[in-house]
Amino acid sequence: MIRKYTFGTPLPTDAVVQSLPAESGELPYFETRTGEDGSVTFSIALHPEEVLFGLGQMVRGIDKRGHRYESWNSDVFNHTEERPSLYGSHNLLVFFSPERLMGVYLDDPGKIVWDLGYGDHDRAYITSESGGLDLYLIEEDTLVGIARAFRELTGRSYIPPRWAFGYIQSRWGYASEQEIRTVVSEHRERHIPLDAVCQDIDYMTDFKNFTWKQDAFPDLAGFQREMKEDHIRLVPIIDAGIKVEEGYAPYDTGKAGDFFCRKADGSDFVAAVWPGRCCFPDFLREDARRWFGDLYRPLLEAGIEGFWNDMNEPALFYSDEGVADAFAAADRIRSGGVDYETAWWLKDVFSGIANSPEDYRRFYHELDGKTVRHDRVHNLYGAGMTRATAEGFRRFRPGERLLLFSRSSFIGAHRNGGIWQGDNFSWWSHLKMALQMLPNLNLCGFLFTGCDLGGFGCNVTEDLLERFLQLGVFTPLMRNHSALHTREQEIYRFGSWETMRDTVTVRYALLPYLYSEFMKAALGNGMYFRPLAFDYPEDRRAVHTQDQILLGGDCMIAPVYEQNAAGRYVYLPEDMLMVRFRSAGDYDLIPLEKGDHWIDLKISEFPLFVKKDRAVLLCAGGESSETLDDTRFTALGWIGKETVYELYRDDGKTADPDPAGGITRIALAPGKELKQDVLC
Ligand code: GLC
Repeated sequence: MIRKYTFGTPLPTDAVVQSLPAESGELPYFETRTGEDGSVTFSIALHPEEVLFGLGQMVRGIDKRGHRYESWNSDVFNHTEERPSLYGSHNLLVFFSPERLMGVYLDDPGKIVWDLGYGDHDRAYITSESGGLDLYLIEEDTLVGIARAFRELTGRSYIPPRWAFGYIQSRWGYASEQEIRTVVSEHRERHIPLDAVCQDIDYMTDFKNFTWKQDAFPDLAGFQREMKEDHIRLVPIIDAGIKVEEGYAPYDTGKAGDFFCRKADGSDFVAAVWPGRCCFPDFLREDARRWFGDLYRPLLEAGIEGFWNDMNEPALFYSDEGVADAFAAADRIRSGGVDYETAWWLKDVFSGIANSPEDYRRFYHELDGKTVRHDRVHNLYGAGMTRATAEGFRRFRPGERLLLFSRSSFIGAHRNGGIWQGDNFSWWSHLKMALQMLPNLNLCGFLFTGCDLGGFGCNVTEDLLERFLQLGVFTPLMRNHSALHTREQEIYRFGSWETMRDTVTVRYALLPYLYSEFMKAALGNGMYFRPLAFDYPEDRRAVHTQDQILLGGDCMIAPVYEQNAAGRYVYLPEDMLMVRFRSAGDYDLIPLEKGDHWIDLKISEFPLFVKKDRAVLLCAGGESSETLDDTRFTALGWIGKETVYELYRDDGKTADPDPAGGITRIALAPGKELKQDVLC
């Protein structure tokens, strides 16, 4: 059951697809307090054992209790434990304890502060800065029921084409066709499976969106055709800012249509991103979205089938006003000399030029005919860009699935695209953070997601990349991406490339199965990744487990995330079959009973746990998703009774697939063998 409570004057966000009447009574369970500044705070006592799931893209554990977070989409490069927010705002929180089960969703595009047992360990305080919001209270009998009800409220998750489940290689710095050809041939020659290469800002002329460096990429259509013959898709990046430059068509047409965000005096708001000074499309306006979506058309016509949208919090490196203010601040102390305090203050003044709260207050949007200051709707910007792109896709390629993933997001954007987990580092702690974020992202509707495998910033080590890939085998988006000037991170750069290749072969052998689990989750408003509590709510150990997650209907993953570990402890909430993979054709099958187990895992090994009486399907694998045989499988399962696996298959490219259409029922017979051949 979902009940809606309205506070102040909410703004339309496009997050919710069900229209519910607002309740007239008071919000139960919470104390509600309105501040003098117009903010509203909902507070509630927490039970001693209470676990808090949700908030999607955030640092720290699967259980969000014990810290303070903010919904404020941020371009942040350093995902340390105290970061209050990352790139997306996903305002769903689920309270779960033996005494209580409920979800609260705040549909509010402005800043929200979530003090979840930080100020007071036994109380949660949720503050909407603006005080204008719809709050949805979701009460169901199970955690799975809450997730489903929330998805029914907010709409079905985005479904990418099937090729997007292949391995994707990316790096900031691929600057020419030739460089990309080399990346592809290095993979193909070594039989490292590969489906796509992302193109970062280097393909553009002066980092200008929708341009293509003519000398380095002379024939876009021809190059993408050549790649496609080798089953490789090109996936270019598009940023939010449009460079201020007369004669540059996106700027000229944006200006002619008046589609950019404006300052109070009516002039365009300008701030710098990669191309220098930029204007920012007002994605909250339907006509501006249409104009922006149209800009993708030439690339689509050249055959491009996937994009990643970036810098759409929006990231603002600096504005003229911000720089002038910083110089003025420096001038104020110049004559008095500098001590350590003023020196630190000065440093903060200059580093605070980027993404400054003042800049986010300098510009305005038009929302349903009303002028709204940006900070009031800040968290909608990236979702608006995703929406503009997806609406363009629907106009130009109706009926087709295209790949789209974004950095910034808001609930609602999960219907239009996936997201990646942002600019992580090549740190072991970030491997664990990625794992912990996944189930909360799924709870909030973002099923198509994954982290930069190997880590984006800093220099990766060979063993860290291997362990990242072992997680990536299971994430819907499996992309190796790294930053300019960091150690080169393609698999073939390392002495142990064969081990890494073998890891990727497991992804391809599992791909039809993982795709099937993803599709069933997406089409059934379920979750592909879940916290253990969702299947084992009565099991206190499972409920509080922070480093293992459920995958699809029948599996659990527990990756190694520490350097030099010889294995790890794993808690099994029921009897399971461990498949310890080394490659698609080389694995151990070990039945294990419910309880604690130490699992030996050499650097080349990683486990998948399959519930008893269930099975996973392995195909023969291949080097691209298009060449896999999904009619012959080896089923791996510890099967003690008749069981059926429902395999979902489709053409992988038609939009709006039929949930029932693609199911084949595969009967698995009980027996001593842990492997069975299956034809379907
Ligand atoms: C941002 C993106 C990153 C990209 C870089 C250059 O930092 O998050 O993925 O490589 O910009 O475009």
